[in-house]
Amino acid sequence: MTTPSIAHTRAELVGLVRRRADSHSRSLVLVPTMGALHAGHAGLIDLARARGDQLVVSVFVNPLQFGPGEDLDRYPRTFDADLALCADHDVDVVFAPAVDEVYPGGQPQVVVEPGPLGTVLEGASRPGHYRGVLTVVAKLFGLVGPDAAVFGEKDYQQLVLIRRMVDDLCMPVEVVGGETVRERDGLALSSRNRFLSPAERTQALVLSRALRAGQLAQSSGTDAVRQEARAVLDATSGLELDYLALTDEALGPAPPHGPARLLVAARVGGTRLIDNVPLHLGS
Ligand code: PAF
Repeated sequence: MTTPSIAHTRAELVGLVRRRADSHSRSLVLVPTMGALHAGHAGLIDLARARGDQLVVSVFVNPLQFGPGEDLDRYPRTFDADLALCADHDVDVVFAPAVDEVYPGGQPQVVVEPGPLGTVLEGASRPGHYRGVLTVVAKLFGLVGPDAAVFGEKDYQQLVLIRRMVDDLCMPVEVVGGETVRERDGLALSSRNRFLSPAERTQALVLSRALRAGQLAQSSGTDAVRQEARAVLDATSGLELDYLALTDEALGPAPPHGPARLLVAARVGGTRLIDNVPLHLGS
């Protein structure tokens, strides 16, 4: 267990992280988060720890990625518990800036546009969301200067878009995806799960069950996957389905054979949940 150093400002961060020019041998890995850390984040941090000599976790609830009427104000903020988790997982530096440290001039005039992939699935329901995500991730890359950064597969579209940004903008950062961590009953861990009442939590389980049903049908092809997953969702009340989508790994049309992704989003009570699983279609 290491007590992490804490940086709230850019100047403090500069004093704590090694700069690229200082060392050719040590690698710096960043795990960007919005705090409210749970075992899913711990998995990402452990993955990062195994890849780098210096490990930075950022904790920043990014207003730019929340739309009007979304849950920015009630997004859980649990900094002391986040620090304790970081200490347990040997994080070297926690970067926890205030909003005006990240956006000193208010709304930035130059932003990262995600392109067409930012307007489908999550992007269709949350216009501007991925512009906010990519802009803050680009800023964090600029501020921290990591060699690698770890993101969860739970927001699979986010991971695909960040990979795309890094490729398209030639950012010298390796993007590493970490598998979704689930409760024993299948519920994907999420900072928003704490908003679910016990009854809603039970309803929420249908998301992972539907994905599992789709996965079990993967050898029978795309139609079977969609039908099996849809049947599970249709059999449940109290769930407001946003989308069930079967895609290729880059979120394009699903191939008849080969690697694919099955993604789902739904509102349970007042809480919007997302989940996804990998598949291999066809025999
Ligand atoms: O996945 C998240 O927690 C956020 O979208 C991220 C990547 C930290 C950017 O604010």
